[in-house]
Amino acid sequence: MPQGVVIIGVQWGDEGKGKIVDYYAAEANVVARFQGGNNAGHTLVVQGKQTILHLIPSGILHPHAECVIGSGVVVDPEVFLAEVDVLRKAGVPNLEQRLALSDRAHVILDYHRKLDAAREGNAGDGKIGTTKRGIGPAYEDRAARRGIRIADLYNDKVFAERLAQNFAEKNFLLTEYYKAEPLSMDQVVEKYRRIAEQLRPFVRDTAKWLNDAIVCGRKVLFEGAQGVLLDVDYGSYPYVTSSHTLPSQAALGLGVRLPKETLFLGTIKAYSTRVGEGPFPTELEGDPEGIGEKLRLTGKEYGATTGRPRRCGWLDLVAVRHALRTCGIRHLAITKADVLTGFGDLKVCVGYQRKGQRFDDWPADTTMLDDVEPVYETLPGWTASLDGIRSAADLPKELKNYLRFIEEFTDTRVNLVSTGAGREAVIDIHRAF
Ligand code: IMP
Repeated sequence: MPQGVVIIGVQWGDEGKGKIVDYYAAEANVVARFQGGNNAGHTLVVQGKQTILHLIPSGILHPHAECVIGSGVVVDPEVFLAEVDVLRKAGVPNLEQRLALSDRAHVILDYHRKLDAAREGNAGDGKIGTTKRGIGPAYEDRAARRGIRIADLYNDKVFAERLAQNFAEKNFLLTEYYKAEPLSMDQVVEKYRRIAEQLRPFVRDTAKWLNDAIVCGRKVLFEGAQGVLLDVDYGSYPYVTSSHTLPSQAALGLGVRLPKETLFLGTIKAYSTRVGEGPFPTELEGDPEGIGEKLRLTGKEYGATTGRPRRCGWLDLVAVRHALRTCGIRHLAITKADVLTGFGDLKVCVGYQRKGQRFDDWPADTTMLDDVEPVYETLPGWTASLDGIRSAADLPKELKNYLRFIEEFTDTRVNLVSTGAGREAVIDIHRAF
């Protein structure tokens, strides 16, 4: 691998990034997360055993890799400690030495989760369909300059003062506006004092540490969460998450300059899925041929974080092209190609039709997508199983054609194709970048 590899999702998350991260992590010295929080869910199958991580970078499963959670991540300390516990019990070695948490990261507290749930509960048809992990409210507090950072947990005065201010405001909102139960501040200070001590071995100035590592030539994998279409600016606003999911966030959310030799890799699922609300032009829900349901069942399309069934549909190349252009990505990893085996003809969306007019760009006003008809190109599918294929040359010609179509439509190159759940089912097509 080059010295830096940034891996992001190009659709609505759940593209199978964990798998691609895992592929490169074998060679990386450091794996770093730069945005999001425990709304993410990376499902990995290693030696037949499934592991789901929400916050800690999936690279931790490689015993040689060091892992960083950067300042751009919002951290629920209880989730962090619970994941550490699970990893410890699974025999993952040297966690204190290999896992670093930024002292500048913002903390998700109980009131963030509670507000997230109250807002969603009150929003009626306008709900976003969040993961209710408190992600949005924690990022709001960061921007409003009332957030509590990991470093603040070690300053009793700052922590107590800021907590009191926040509790007063949040409880007012909860009770007066959302008509929900207030939260009690009793024992919170004590609880976080305990948590701070448990976190202490992991807390560092990760920006400084990672900069030094990059200067020393160490190889770093930058692990994105969610996907470009959930980016707070360039996604399907307001049906987005509250962070930037673009690759440029890697530098910001870690406080580093990326290595000069960095591969930016976008991960695309061979079809489309989305959890939560928001526009999804190629969604196949209740379609007469049952293709949406077949994709869900074959692809095991249930949220890794919330267990919600994912909405499924054909690959939307208009959305993907918008996402790739926005973040300047030219190299792709295509995942779950095996799921499409035996589907017959495959459709890919190359434009939208609305009120008799065709357009082929993703609009800023995404309500325009509510009543569009996708314009599809039909490509031949393949029937032969992809099991055991290890070389690009052995892929069915129809799959090669499908990949070529994606490349041409989006002006990119496919570097990797994943053809199964296991670590070994990743086929390298273009090693160079
Ligand atoms: P939040 O990030 O919990 O605020 O949720 C905002 C939107 O992003 C909702 O539609 C979620 O379903 C979606 N979302 C957040 N994280 C992920 C993820 O890791 N995969 C897929 N969708 C996600």
